[in-house]
Amino acid sequence: MSSKGLGLFPASTGDYRALAEKRLPRALFDYIDGGACEEKTLAANVADFQNIMFKQRVMRDVSTINTKTTFFGNAYELPMVLAPIGLAGLMARRAEVQAVRVAEATGIPFCLSTVSICSLEEVAKAATKPFWYQLYMMRDRGYVEQLLQRAENVGCDTLVFTVDLAVVGPRYRDVRNGMTAEGTPLIKIRKLMNLLSHPQWLHDVGIKGKPHVFGNLSEFVPGAQKLEAFKSWVDSQFDASVTWKDIEWLRGKWKGKLIIKGILEPEDALEAVEVGADGVVVSNHGGRQLDGVQSGISMLPHIVEAIGDKAEILVDGGVRSGQDIAKARALGASNVMVGRPWVWALASQGEAGLQQLLTTIKAELNITLALTGCPDINELSPAILDKSQR
Ligand SMILES: Cc1cc2nc3c(=O)[nH]c(=O)nc-3n(C[C@H](O)[C@H](O)[C@H](O)COP(=O)(O)O)c2cc1C
Repeated sequence: MSSKGLGLFPASTGDYRALAEKRLPRALFDYIDGGACEEKTLAANVADFQNIMFKQRVMRDVSTINTKTTFFGNAYELPMVLAPIGLAGLMARRAEVQAVRVAEATGIPFCLSTVSICSLEEVAKAATKPFWYQLYMMRDRGYVEQLLQRAENVGCDTLVFTVDLAVVGPRYRDVRNGMTAEGTPLIKIRKLMNLLSHPQWLHDVGIKGKPHVFGNLSEFVPGAQKLEAFKSWVDSQFDASVTWKDIEWLRGKWKGKLIIKGILEPEDALEAVEVGADGVVVSNHGGRQLDGVQSGISMLPHIVEAIGDKAEILVDGGVRSGQDIAKARALGASNVMVGRPWVWALASQGEAGLQQLLTTIKAELNITLALTGCPDINELSPAILDKSQR
């Protein structure tokens, strides 16, 4: 049972979500929050983490706790990555720039989306270390090569290639909010009224957060000012014919680390390893693609069994706390990606909010390690989990 108390400070990711809901125009909040169709997979992502139980262990020396890990040879403060989120810069002013700064201050990687508002170059100006870049395959491989070159030029060391978006999942909330159609003048007026009833967002992001374009793609859609123009270009460029052969091609082009994101089946994980991936993200795209598939966390043990240590295994979908990170590590993930929470925190309380959320998650992870009697994150195993139905 949770109580909102006096509501003076946000304590959990759920609290940041509630604050973001107040701050954002309805269509934007639902764009972030929603999933595909009836949102069964979206719900399972969160519920499946919550249903994993720990064993409480006592009388062990937990006076020194370690959450530090290495990933691809780099040291990080905790095994968590800010996931690629398209259009984040519509939720908070130049959100991707704020996110990379907070990720660096916390000692974790930030991954920039192909369809971000801020460009690779704008984010790089704010960063002092390499960040990650996420890519979707475009029909015109020339564009792909240019994006890879730009990512390399700004020092990105890890490419996350997303494979679970061959076509876009149907998202009922976006349809209901008129995000997918032009609409009649009356619908346009209702949308405008909703924007006007969120003055803080309107001032901070709507006006001061411009330009609202797909920063990485503006050179391919010259003269485009409106997001609609970018969206139709992206729709025409998304390549549904992509197969593992194309990943082989990509592998040949990208010298850095390559992570394939959007794997749920062991056979696909094996294919990813076969074409030379350095890592996979067990993911259903935050429940936004095929509604009715299993959660990432429930498929994680099967992927671990299939590929073992042949590649790094990350998991995402529903990670909402430090406890969830410990659960994912115990089940064999080397790292987790966190999506919606970072945007909720930035949308509601800006950079300070995101910093506070990450500090909270790290503190929760510390406490979990202490109370499960396993003070070093690198030694977590299924032994900390209670699989019995007692
Ligand atoms: C609004 C939104 C936009 C997203 N955009 C992208 C994207 O551009 N590229 C990508 O690979 N994944 C994208 N994702 C998926 C996330 O990277 C991640 O897999 C997912 O959010 C994890 O689930 P969580 O939100 O429950 O943490 C997006 C997710 C959301 C919610």
